Amino acid sequence: MATDPHSFAQPDRVRMTHLDLELALDFAQRQLAGHATLRLDWLAPAAAALLLDTRDLDLERVEAVTADGQVQTLAWSLGARDEKLGRALRIEAPQRPAHVRIHYRTSAHASGLQWLGPEQTADHTAPFMFSQSEAIHARSWVPLQDTPAVRFTYAAHIRAPRGLRVVMSALGEAGHALDGEFRFAQPHPVPSYLLAIAAGALAVRDTGPRSAVYAEPSVVELAAREFADTERFIASTEQLYGPYRWGRYDLLVLPPSFPFGGMENPNMTFATPTVLVGDKSLVSLVAHELAHSWSGNLVTAATWRDIWLNEGFTTYVQDRITEAVYGKALADEEALLAARDLQKKLPVIAANLQKLAPDPDGLAADDTLGVVAYHKGAWFLRTLEARYGRQLLDAWLRGYFDHFAYCSICTEDMLAYLKASLVDRHPGRMGWDEVLAWVYQPGIPADAPLPESPRFAMIDAARHDFLAGDIDAAGLDAHAWNTQEWMYFLDRLPDVAPLEKLEQLDAAWQLTGTANAEIGMRWYVHAIAGGYQAAWPAAGEHMRRIGRLYLTTPLYKALARTPAGLAYAEQVYATASSGYHPLTQAAVAAIIADVKSLPRA
Ligand code: BES
Ligand code: ZN
Repeated sequence: MATDPHSFAQPDRVRMTHLDLELALDFAQRQLAGHATLRLDWLAPAAAALLLDTRDLDLERVEAVTADGQVQTLAWSLGARDEKLGRALRIEAPQRPAHVRIHYRTSAHASGLQWLGPEQTADHTAPFMFSQSEAIHARSWVPLQDTPAVRFTYAAHIRAPRGLRVVMSALGEAGHALDGEFRFAQPHPVPSYLLAIAAGALAVRDTGPRSAVYAEPSVVELAAREFADTERFIASTEQLYGPYRWGRYDLLVLPPSFPFGGMENPNMTFATPTVLVGDKSLVSLVAHELAHSWSGNLVTAATWRDIWLNEGFTTYVQDRITEAVYGKALADEEALLAARDLQKKLPVIAANLQKLAPDPDGLAADDTLGVVAYHKGAWFLRTLEARYGRQLLDAWLRGYFDHFAYCSICTEDMLAYLKASLVDRHPGRMGWDEVLAWVYQPGIPADAPLPESPRFAMIDAARHDFLAGDIDAAGLDAHAWNTQEWMYFLDRLPDVAPLEKLEQLDAAWQLTGTANAEIGMRWYVHAIAGGYQAAWPAAGEHMRRIGRLYLTTPLYKALARTPAGLAYAEQVYATASSGYHPLTQAAVAAIIADVKSLPRA
């Protein structure tokens, strides 16, 4: 297997197979402190050192622990700091011990952690903290082999202030007293990017026999209602692709600074509160993160270049779950929204990054985590479905998840399995050269099948008539539009819409100040681009409140296109940045720095 260029580890020489974490949460210092013990499998006969990934860790000492519990100090050194990868920790271990223990503490600025004061939470009663390890941020809170090619089981003993609840990407005890001590166990081998922890004033509500939602007390009822279909999602996916193998499936609703929509941490999906809109219209996010329990967490991309195996397969499965639970019309709308988005963005994506499996030279770990991996990946599977039919493709996928269960694989492993078990077995449906074009060529093959949506066709017609002046905004039949239909209407307005049309839309439909952030993000980008300044204060509020990259960075980008907008963006950022996650801080700072480095036309 190809080695992972985004890790210093040498897992072919020595490999971690289990992790024991003993950590204390210190909110005053904004740090985790304690030790990590790695169980090791020494593979190469000549290996005498262990290389681990770290970033901004404060290392205290390293020990070898023998089978009978004897502890011996080991020599260690840190390599030069790489901006993207952090620093290699080299531990000299000529006696090849079965366990190595590292005593350390994290930095207050760890890239994989966010520490929030009570004022940044929904209830303002207690501090909050959470991790986000994907892609390569686990190394900022645990020294380990931070590559998805390595899998390990883990156990943890976490101390926290009394009254707070700690959760992890593992099995714990929902009924445990909030006495400041929590224990967790992840009995299945998982890659490092699925290591997760959060702590705060968290209440719990069951949503089914094997699912619950964790959220702050003022949010938990709303969340339980929004996610009431969780068991239907799990049961539908099992029907299609085989058993859910992880035991419980819980959801954690985070504060709005969470930088992503969702993160598929095993046993405990982490989710943005921006999907809590009261009508379940954005819960396909749960379908997506749940789908990762098969595509991603069970069968895992071995390097970041192969991440479409996680995200593309998951987006396809997500649509199948949505269809099973809410019907084909909604699933088709979501697939079409995504396909149009991909078609719009593709022309500005570098040719190599238009490939599902790009040439790995020079790729950053997160370069491949974009629309291509998700939507071209899902489109490839929809193409296979169109050629082989659902029965064959569903059986193939089920076999694929079984065959590679708990394995980390690269694109070529998947392709070899696809060829042997589907393409060669049913000749005449799809040429192997077609498969290779999907995976290794830029662009979308011309005959890629698109779903049809009569409702979207109606929206296209309405948008056209509105822009042509044949109907006014109040004449749009938008009372009946669902969230996806509003998204589609807004997505396909001209990039710079006429100001008077924007004013009309807002007067008729009160888009400014909407409680639905998916609609809000699209609306504010249009308002800013079209010179509708009346929407700026509400846009600023959206930007201050929401740290989710996908919902907030487009507003900064739109504002940064004019000097007055840039000044406003900087003003918003000055008051928002201390509440943002490190990733959001970095992304917004880069947007602002970028435009400032350009000479103004
Ligand atoms: N695994 C991703 C989130 C992620 C990707 C974190 C890359 C870090 C780096 C997760 O499964 C995901 O795709 N989330 C989406 C949800 C959406 C597609 C429903 C998100 O966060 O928007
Ligand atoms: Zn995903």
